[in-house]
Amino acid sequence: MKIEYAIQPAPEGLAQAFLIGEAFITDSTVALVLGDNIFHGTGLGSSLRQNADLEGGLVFAYHVSDPTAYGVVEFDSHGRAISIEEKPFSPKSSFAIPGLYFYDNSVVEIAKSIRPSARGELEISSVNERYLAENKLRVQVLDRGTAWLDTGTFESMMQASEYVRVIEDRQGFKIGCIEEVAWRSGWITDTELEDLASPLRKSGYGDYLMTLLGERKTDLP
Ligand code: G1P
Repeated sequence: MKIEYAIQPAPEGLAQAFLIGEAFITDSTVALVLGDNIFHGTGLGSSLRQNADLEGGLVFAYHVSDPTAYGVVEFDSHGRAISIEEKPFSPKSSFAIPGLYFYDNSVVEIAKSIRPSARGELEISSVNERYLAENKLRVQVLDRGTAWLDTGTFESMMQASEYVRVIEDRQGFKIGCIEEVAWRSGWITDTELEDLASPLRKSGYGDYLMTLLGERKTDLP
């Protein structure tokens, strides 16, 4: 895996990612995920993998107690999305749109055509509204078995940390351990996992990776 970074010099909105990343995207479809969003749930990984080659856009909806801090999607009685609003004072539903978005290549042109909002940002909700208006937006509701956690404030960061700590402590498995994911997927060998683990032995993280080697890969789904 090769990771490259591009910098957004000023906080001018999520949709600017498609302008800054245009040369990286070329003619591909794209996924955008916000660094302060955490997703965890059964089947989520395999369900996301199916969206690599989509037409139009795909966003998610998640029931939250306070939707005012988010992009909010409203559904009609048939469950079809009918409106999207960014941080509404009076939300039309309790379904927030999490920071994980899949788009076809036209997102680059759409991002170029939208104008900054009142808060001076190129809003991702404006991009989503455009897809919705063209009838090209799929909105998939994440069920309550999925955890979507935001870590954008001290309070929410503490909540997310507590969630991760409780699950990890109880199960004895780590959440989002990329070395483990690579090893279980067969992308790295036992020896490569061991090489990655050895410089980390003092942190406990390395010890965790080493204990994996003692297990059969098929022990877990
Ligand atoms: C951004 C998006 C919003 C989305 C949220 C998810 O909000 O603008 O539509 O629901 O991320 O975390 P912001 O991080 O700008 O407050």
